[in-house]
Amino acid sequence: MSKTFYITTPIYYTSGNLHIGHAYTTVICDAIARYKKMRGYDVFYLTGTDEHGQKVQQKALQANKTPKQFVDELVNGIKELWSNLKIDYNHFIRTTDDYHVETVQKVFSKLIEQGDIYKGVYEGWYCTPCEAFFTESQLDENHNCPDCGRPVHKAQEDAYFFKMSKYADKLIKYYEEHPEFVEPESRKNEMINSFLKPGLEDLCVSRTSFDWGVKVKEDPKHVVYVWIDALTNYISALGYTQENDDLFKKFWHNDENHEILHIVGKEIVRFHVIYWPIILLALDLPLPTKIFAHGWIIMKDGKMGKSKGNVVEPNVLINRYGLDALRYYLTNAIPLGNDGLFTPELFIEKVNTDLANNLGNLLSRTVSMVIKYFDGVVPTYNGTLNEIDENLEKDAKKFINRYEEHFDKYEVDEASSAVFDYLSRANKYIDESQPWVLAKDESKREELASVMTHLVLALYQSAIMLQPFLVETPSKIFEQLGASTPNYEDLRNLNAVDGLNVVKGTPLFPRLEIEKEIEYIQSNMPSK
Ligand code: MSP
Repeated sequence: MSKTFYITTPIYYTSGNLHIGHAYTTVICDAIARYKKMRGYDVFYLTGTDEHGQKVQQKALQANKTPKQFVDELVNGIKELWSNLKIDYNHFIRTTDDYHVETVQKVFSKLIEQGDIYKGVYEGWYCTPCEAFFTESQLDENHNCPDCGRPVHKAQEDAYFFKMSKYADKLIKYYEEHPEFVEPESRKNEMINSFLKPGLEDLCVSRTSFDWGVKVKEDPKHVVYVWIDALTNYISALGYTQENDDLFKKFWHNDENHEILHIVGKEIVRFHVIYWPIILLALDLPLPTKIFAHGWIIMKDGKMGKSKGNVVEPNVLINRYGLDALRYYLTNAIPLGNDGLFTPELFIEKVNTDLANNLGNLLSRTVSMVIKYFDGVVPTYNGTLNEIDENLEKDAKKFINRYEEHFDKYEVDEASSAVFDYLSRANKYIDESQPWVLAKDESKREELASVMTHLVLALYQSAIMLQPFLVETPSKIFEQLGASTPNYEDLRNLNAVDGLNVVKGTPLFPRLEIEKEIEYIQSNMPSK
C-alpha cells in the first residue's frame, strides 16, 4: 500500500480577481503535490473558494447581482487561471456546494449537542449604517466605525460562542509533543506567546447582521462565522459526515504512512493553528501533520493590493513569457517562509540568467556538440576518465541529494536552486573540459565522448527534477535529448542516456530585451 499525502491551499475569497500572490500559494502546493506523486505517494491536492460573508454580499449588491451570480462568475475566472497555470488539483471545493453546507451544519450541531458551542449575548460597538459590530481595538483613531468613520454605539445581540478555552491546554500539550506541527518555528512561538498563553477567549461563531452564509440549522436567523465555515472545507471536501466518506477514511490520518499538510499565508496562521486544531480536537479527529506558513510576495511599495494599484496579474506574464517562466519565478525566487520581492526587473533578469542562459544555452550547446562530434548519438557511459569527470559526478550526487532533502521538507525554493546550481556546475564543466580542444585530437576521442555523456546526463537528471516546478519545459528537454518520459528511478541511472538520438530544437527561452519588457509589465499593471 502506498503512503498517502493530503495537501491543501487556503480557499480563496471570491471578492475580486486573484493576482500573483494567490497564484504563489497555489503553485507552491502544486509543486509539492507533483513532487510527492513523482516519489510514489498517493496524493490528494485540494483547492477551492471561500464564498460566504458580508463582504461578498455587499460587493454583489454593488454589482447589481445576487451573491450566487457574483461568486459564480469569479469562480469561473479562478478555475480558468488554475487551468492556465496547469494546477493539477484533485478537487475544487466551493463553500456554496451543498455537501459542504450540510457538513458545516452537522459539525455545528454536533458542537452544540456536546456543549462546546452555546448561545449567549454578544456585546460590542455597533455601526448602524454598516450593520456591523466592532471590538474596541478595531475602531478608528476617533473611536468611530473603521469602515465609514461614523459614530458607533454599544449594542448587544444573541450569538453562539465556542468554548475555545476548554481545549487550550490540550492544544499546548499537542504543540509540545509535536514540535513539527507549525512551521516556521517563529510563527509557532508567536502564536503560543500572544494567544494561547494569555488565555483564549470564547469565540463568537455566528452572525445575524447578514445572511450570505451557512445557516445554523437549529436557529436559521444566525449564519455560521465565516472562518468556521471555511476551515471545515478541509474535511468536507473528503466527505466527512457524508454517506460516501471513502476519501476521508483514506486521507484524514496523521501517522508515518499518512500526511496532512496545510500551506497557508502568514496572515492566516492564527486561524489554522488555533481555531482549526480546536475544532478538530472537539470533533475528536486527528490534527494535521503540519501547517506551513509562507510569506508574501511584496512589491517595492509593500504588499500587493488593488487599492495600491500594484497588482500583477498572472495571465499577463503567462501570455507573454510562457507558463514556466512564471512558475519558475514563483517557486525559485521567494524563500518559503519569508517575504519575497517581485519587480519586473528581477523577473526579466531571472528569466534571462537562469532560464535562457543557464538552462536553455546548456541544452542547445550540448545538443549541437553531440550532433557535431558524434552524429547525434549519445556515447555510452564509460565511468569517469579523469578528475574533471569525477568531480562533476561527485557534485551531481550532492545536488540530487540536496534537491530531495529540501523538497522532503517542503523547501521548494531550495529544491529548485539545487537543480539550477547543478546546471551552472554543468556549464562550468564545459569550460573545464574544453570539448572543442579535445575534438581536435583523435587520441582524446574517449574523453570527448565522456564529456558529451556527462552533459547529457546533467540535462536529463535536471529535467527529471524540474518536473514539479516547470510543466512544459521538461518534456521539451526530453524531446531534444531523444529520451522518452523517464521514471524517477532513472535519476540515478548513469546509463539512462546511452545511445539516445538527440534532435536540435528551438531555444527553450528566448532572451528578453530588459528595458522593453520592464515597460511592458509596468504598463500592464491595472491602475487603482
Ligand atoms: N479565505 C481565506 C482563507 C480561508 S482557508 C480556510 C483567505 N483568502 S485570501 O484569498 O485572502 O488568501 C488566500 C491565500 O492567498 C493566503 O494564503 C494568502 O496569504 C495568499 N496571498 C494573498 N496575497 C498574497 C501575496 N501578495 N503574497 C503571497 N500570498 C498572498 O485568506
